[in-house]
Amino acid sequence: MRRVKVGICGLGTVGAGVFNVISRNIDAINARANCQISISQVGCRRDNIDCDLSKSNVSRDIFDVAKNPDVDIVVELIGGTTVAFDLVMTALNNGKHVVTANKALIAEHGMTIFAEAASRGLIVSFEAAVAGGIPIIKALREGLAANQVNWLAGIINGTTNFILSQMDSKGREFSDVLAEAQAKGYAEADPTFDVEGIDASHKLAILASIAFSTPLSLDGLFTDGISKLEPQDVTYARELGYAIKHLGIARRSEEGIELRVHPTLVPESSLIAGVNDVSNAIMVNADAVGTTLYYGPGAGSEPTASAVIADVIDIARVMDSYPDSWVPPLGCDAAQLKQHKIMDIEDVETGFYIRFSALDKPGVLSDVTKIMSDAGISIEAIIQREQPAGEHYVNVIILTNVTKEKFLDEAVVHIENLTTVRGNVNFIRLEYLDQI
Ligand SMILES: NC(=O)c1ccc[n+]([C@@H]2O[C@H](COP(=O)([O-])OP(=O)(O)OC[C@H]3O[C@@H](n4cnc5c(N)ncnc54)[C@H](OP(=O)(O)O)[C@@H]3O)[C@@H](O)[C@H]2O)c1
Repeated sequence: MRRVKVGICGLGTVGAGVFNVISRNIDAINARANCQISISQVGCRRDNIDCDLSKSNVSRDIFDVAKNPDVDIVVELIGGTTVAFDLVMTALNNGKHVVTANKALIAEHGMTIFAEAASRGLIVSFEAAVAGGIPIIKALREGLAANQVNWLAGIINGTTNFILSQMDSKGREFSDVLAEAQAKGYAEADPTFDVEGIDASHKLAILASIAFSTPLSLDGLFTDGISKLEPQDVTYARELGYAIKHLGIARRSEEGIELRVHPTLVPESSLIAGVNDVSNAIMVNADAVGTTLYYGPGAGSEPTASAVIADVIDIARVMDSYPDSWVPPLGCDAAQLKQHKIMDIEDVETGFYIRFSALDKPGVLSDVTKIMSDAGISIEAIIQREQPAGEHYVNVIILTNVTKEKFLDEAVVHIENLTTVRGNVNFIRLEYLDQI
């Protein structure tokens, strides 16, 4: 039987999962790969107590793995975009195929890495980079290859979904739940990448590139996080029949492609509204198949290892017949990828949830509805919530029908200028997701 040798770089959460799942399931993995896979070297600065390395060849220098003549596939699991980039390029320069779970690396340097790999007849795979254990890359790139994708929308960051789920079900403050997420190991010590939507934007860029056969790029991708969300908005949204989810959305329209990551009201009857805690889910709407939903664990040691090892098995199967049975990383050859116009968020059309504080006296609401009507925005629902006794202002919450964001922005300026309105107008985008 053919032998395929794997080198693992980084033995943290995912690295340990990969080491342990390969060790535990080696017979099934070999049967599926139709070869004999072994871990010939592990690169880690220190041992991980979750792994029995007693029979392993360990190097304290990950670059040893990338240069080791006894390694066919380098698995990059160190994270980041600097050393990881050097490591992947070193592996390619030394004739190794590469598997990575690193979304930041692929989103920022994917085109350079893929070009280098293609020029050397090597494969770079990255299933685990988006939605951890959910095989969404393969589904989008291969399972839906016959389709024109119209749109996709996903909960693609488990930390933000955990925080929003807790704010929703327990009425807790953002900062309070974030502290718990950090204590539970869901959120990093520096949670900026998660809560400000940067991690989700990396993943959305990768999904959109495959869905729309366009080069990987973060340019024009609108990103907003959840750190400014207030529990009262989560509560009011529920009263109106909506859940707030942090979504990555990519949509094709006649004007170009929308790429955006932001908190979003979704109807509570939609499947995605029921995806809670650290789970991920991606809905894909495509012309032939209609709407499909992919759900599961978006992170974690062994769920992510499941995707990493699937890539190793794929490469092991086809590496000797490259490029005959090879699927290009973004679904088609680089020459076939087309640059599309990325739409400015101002031109994107969505519904809106609006909240502001207004004097509780006759005529105020009619001023507001006139402003909306002058901006060409129709109102779907309006509610007014009393403030504590003695307070003369009430919270006004409005749901609008679909409109361009620039029209909403105009209306917001006029509403904020009303002498009867106090403070800023807060808004959150709203998507119906075809009611699925
Ligand atoms: N965790 C998840 O659920 C998940 C899910 C999907 C994708 N990913 C991606 O998978 C990758 C790994 O994530 P992780 O959660 O496993 O991270 P992690 O637990 O922090 O592990 C990273 C490991 O890489 C090592 N490392 C970092 N820089 C190194 C260097 N310059 N030289 C040698 N070793 C180095 C670290 O060693 P030290 O301990 O010595 O610092 C650590 O053991 C990231 O790209 C992440 O985005 C993670």
